[in-house]
Amino acid sequence: MSLPAPGPERTATVPVIAIDGPGGSGKGTVSTALAAELGFHYLDSGALYRILGYLAWANNVALSDEKTLVRLSAGMQVEFRKTEVFLDGRPIGDVIRTEEAGKRASLVSPIPAVRETLLGWQRNQARLPGLVADGRDMGTVVFAQADCKFFITASARARAERRFKQLREKGFNVNILQLFEEIRERDARDENRAVSPLKPAEDAVILDTTNLEIQEVVVEVLDRVKRCLGDSSG
Ligand code: DC
Repeated sequence: MSLPAPGPERTATVPVIAIDGPGGSGKGTVSTALAAELGFHYLDSGALYRILGYLAWANNVALSDEKTLVRLSAGMQVEFRKTEVFLDGRPIGDVIRTEEAGKRASLVSPIPAVRETLLGWQRNQARLPGLVADGRDMGTVVFAQADCKFFITASARARAERRFKQLREKGFNVNILQLFEEIRERDARDENRAVSPLKPAEDAVILDTTNLEIQEVVVEVLDRVKRCLGDSSG
């Protein structure tokens, strides 16, 4: 089933592909490749929580100050242009892609009122010709009616190794054991929170990428998407 398009395109239906999974599973790479291949819009929902975590840090807002966090999340002027993310018209990608920003995102994201505030904005990203939505709760909450749902995962060890390689290639001096511990901590927080925890939707296709090259996963997902979009439009 497709979602009704918001705004002037309300009469048409918008195909939505939900891609969830833990950090480092390859879901970001798969989602952006899919969006580029299909010419669809791309929603990186993690970027919203990362930006909020960054704003909280930059404005010295305590994680216990829910009222201010909600106000900050309601006032965020975020825009995605292809895979680039902008805050108040300025690119913010480099600032929010650090390990520290990921941890802050994971700390602000359990707050129910914050999630509720960001819900409408995320749903409004479903515009023609279609949306690839990447996150933790795309298939379970935000786009529970999505046409195709995937849960992309990999062992914590494989994810730590991938992250280690990426950071080393970017010239960062990192410790793999510390990365592994941080990944496990973040998984535990994301999986065990009361609202919208990280888990596969009942109707999601689960793909374990531990022993796969990410390009293989892209090909597999694309093939399944073509079939499921064909099914849902027919
Ligand atoms: O996908 P990511 O690593 O950019 O996400 C950063 C954090 O944001 C993640 O640890 C939990 C939170 N998040 C969330 O709660 N819900 C989402 N849909 C996406 C991310």
